[in-house]
Amino acid sequence: MGAGMKARKFVYRCSACAHEEPKWLGRCPECGEWNTLAEAAAGGGSGARGERREGRATPQTVPLASVESREGGRISSGIAELDRVLGGGIMRRGAVLVGGEPGIGKSTLLLQAAASARIKGKALYVSGEESAGQIKLRADRLGLAQTGDIARIEVICTGSLAEIETALNAVKPSLVVVDSAQTLFSQDAGSVPGTVSQMKYCSFELVTWVKERDAALFLVAHVTKEGVIAGPKALEHLVDTVLYFERNDKTAGLSEGRDCRFLRASKNRFGSVDEIGIFTMGDRGLSPVDDAGSLFLVRRDGELPAGVATAAVLEGTRTMLVEIQALTIPAKGATSRVFSDKIDSGRVSRVAAALEKHLGLRLSDQDLYVNVAGGIRISEVGVELALALALYSARSGLALPAGLAISGELSLTGELRPVARLAGRVKTARGLGFPEFLCPRDTRQEEGEQAEAGAAEGVKAAGDIKTAVALAYG
Ligand code: TYD
Ligand code: MG
Repeated sequence: MGAGMKARKFVYRCSACAHEEPKWLGRCPECGEWNTLAEAAAGGGSGARGERREGRATPQTVPLASVESREGGRISSGIAELDRVLGGGIMRRGAVLVGGEPGIGKSTLLLQAAASARIKGKALYVSGEESAGQIKLRADRLGLAQTGDIARIEVICTGSLAEIETALNAVKPSLVVVDSAQTLFSQDAGSVPGTVSQMKYCSFELVTWVKERDAALFLVAHVTKEGVIAGPKALEHLVDTVLYFERNDKTAGLSEGRDCRFLRASKNRFGSVDEIGIFTMGDRGLSPVDDAGSLFLVRRDGELPAGVATAAVLEGTRTMLVEIQALTIPAKGATSRVFSDKIDSGRVSRVAAALEKHLGLRLSDQDLYVNVAGGIRISEVGVELALALALYSARSGLALPAGLAISGELSLTGELRPVARLAGRVKTARGLGFPEFLCPRDTRQEEGEQAEAGAAEGVKAAGDIKTAVALAYG
């Protein structure tokens, strides 16, 4: 903060998010609440909080070289799938929002993490949702006393920010779980409890608390059917990492019909957002899925039906084989439509257009249905060639050979573009019983991994979609 602002006697502070403005505004530009800006003393304000943020007389600079680098601050949560999504573990002083529908397993996951994280010191589990008795019952059911350390978990059942802050200062935990943001309230945040501004104000205070101590925060937020405004979306800008817990659609054609939960990062200051964590919910809580590579395959004896292709895709650092299913039927309306939840429908349209143009395969008078077995969403570009072949197979009625896995990006020109980490994909596919692999020919200088993978037995490389179709059936 510059010296000019320091000299000012008054600021206008938002009662919802504590944002400060030099002049009065009807609406807080930070959190969007109306009529929350009120005059407050600059650098002082409401006691402790003003003190904390602005009490320092002279701004201090630090030599960058002497700053402890943040990467040193990771702690394993003791749950590998959670660590993966976080970008390698829990970041000290980091705040993580965990969103998801009620019943998805947020409380279960975080209670497990509270017991298993490799922290030194205490874990404080704050619940405004359940009683201590219910939490203990869950801990017992999960067998956390055997698999983790429950002696270090302190529980407080309240939504009152004042009570939580007292508990934080008494327990001085290394890990804080707050379940949930929607139950938080504070008298300092305006007169109406249960509002978005209450939730934001309290969450902001908790984030600030962990940032100033050496702790980490997990903040639960329910996604409600009514809308996202009152839910996690309103908190995303306050935290470092946003994770969403979602469930697959059990009707989506997974052979064993396993009930999987996916944990995805939608924002991560400390890592990528490509990784997904995959869990199943059992009577011992959430367990990691260790055969993720084949989780989205449908095992069949013998021939494949028409309209099915197996894609080898990358989700973060993990290679998975997924079954793409396509169905084409004459369009019911005047224009053809695309029904695809799991692969972006814009991508389906582009691939269909490329097929029509370069193979003369009529798709523009068809309604296109695309699904991914197991109901997982696929956003990786390498799925395009498999999608193209699934559509081709559906429209032509010609089943693809079983034992063929496919990776590749398809451009509008009908050319195929190479995909990252081909060798890993070929290896995973082979390990899962797919001896044949169809991929783009690498037109760059063929060397290293790509060339090795491309030259391997059973690997068919095509430069364009026409050749790819011929090789797939050849
Ligand atoms: P929960 O963690 O309470 O979900 P959330 O906090 O997101 O609302 O648990 C979700 C569901 O999981 C609940 O319906 C009960 C079930 N469950 C199990 O199947 N096994 C278990 O070991 C536990 C603890 C819960
Ligand atoms: Mg819960």
